[in-house]
Amino acid sequence: MHELTEKINKLKREKNAVILAHCYQNIEIDEVADFVGDSLYLSQMAAKTDADIIVFAGVYFMAQTAKILSPDKKVLLPELKSGCEMADMINLEQLRKFKSQNPGIPVVCYINSTAEVKSECDICCTSSNAVKIVKSLGAKKVLFLPDNYLGKWVEANLDGVEVITYPGCCPTHLKIKAEDIIAIREKYPEAKILTHPECHQSVTELSDYVGSTTGIMNYAKKSSEKQFVIATEKGVYDRLKRDLPEKEFIMIKDNLICQNMKWHTLEDIYNSLVYEKHEINVEKDLARKALGCIDRMLSEGNNG
Ligand code: 13P
Ligand code: SF4
Repeated sequence: MHELTEKINKLKREKNAVILAHCYQNIEIDEVADFVGDSLYLSQMAAKTDADIIVFAGVYFMAQTAKILSPDKKVLLPELKSGCEMADMINLEQLRKFKSQNPGIPVVCYINSTAEVKSECDICCTSSNAVKIVKSLGAKKVLFLPDNYLGKWVEANLDGVEVITYPGCCPTHLKIKAEDIIAIREKYPEAKILTHPECHQSVTELSDYVGSTTGIMNYAKKSSEKQFVIATEKGVYDRLKRDLPEKEFIMIKDNLICQNMKWHTLEDIYNSLVYEKHEINVEKDLARKALGCIDRMLSEGNNG
């Protein structure tokens, strides 16, 4: 156990704080985390918790979403450098232009987006519920942003819905190429290839399962197969190796790391709790508008 673990856990109790950690975090953070999971799970936990302080070991938009869902709580991001390149690919001006080029079409935004962008979209989604959310709109055409590839994957999984995508992407997931999948299949013909939907469609098309980070982990847990290739950020592989030692996991390629997620250390989390930094705030009116978009997603999640 790390020397700071006990100190952090003591501080959490004293300050009535919870720590939410995304599955791409450095694995030692799990020692102090109350909840570890994908974006959907973490936003549900942020909405439900009765803690006074939420420490978010994730990226900026996740902490911002937690603040929007729990405006009376103090939300802390241990290391401010933790942005998301994809979320920063669209701003309000670009969103307005995208909408004006495609008028009258419902707008779905991936949770990997800023509060400003969410405030002018109809409904939010995460990688685990994107298909369900788009389907729930019952529309023939939807606008989807910022991730072009998640949007295209949704379209491929729905009959008769045209998904018009914004050209955003995740640079980490785009490092995975179709050639990598072909080569790994040849090397490990028995292995199941589990892939995140932020990957290019030439990669998802060749995979055995496509799903969110938690979706991938649950698939590996429930499957009777013994060997899996992980085609997403390395944090998922690290946790699967730790949790399922009886199964074999192979990373699709080396250095598949989202540095934005990896900035937080246990020391940062400790300092974050001691000094209550860095507090994330969202201006009231903006938060109210963005909440509608997130709330619609969360209540859709409760429907069936
Ligand atoms: P999940 O929805 O699987 O948590 O993915 C979030 C993310 O940022 C993946 O790059
Ligand atoms: Fe953003 Fe990609 Fe990192 Fe996910 S993996 S947080 S989409 S940069």
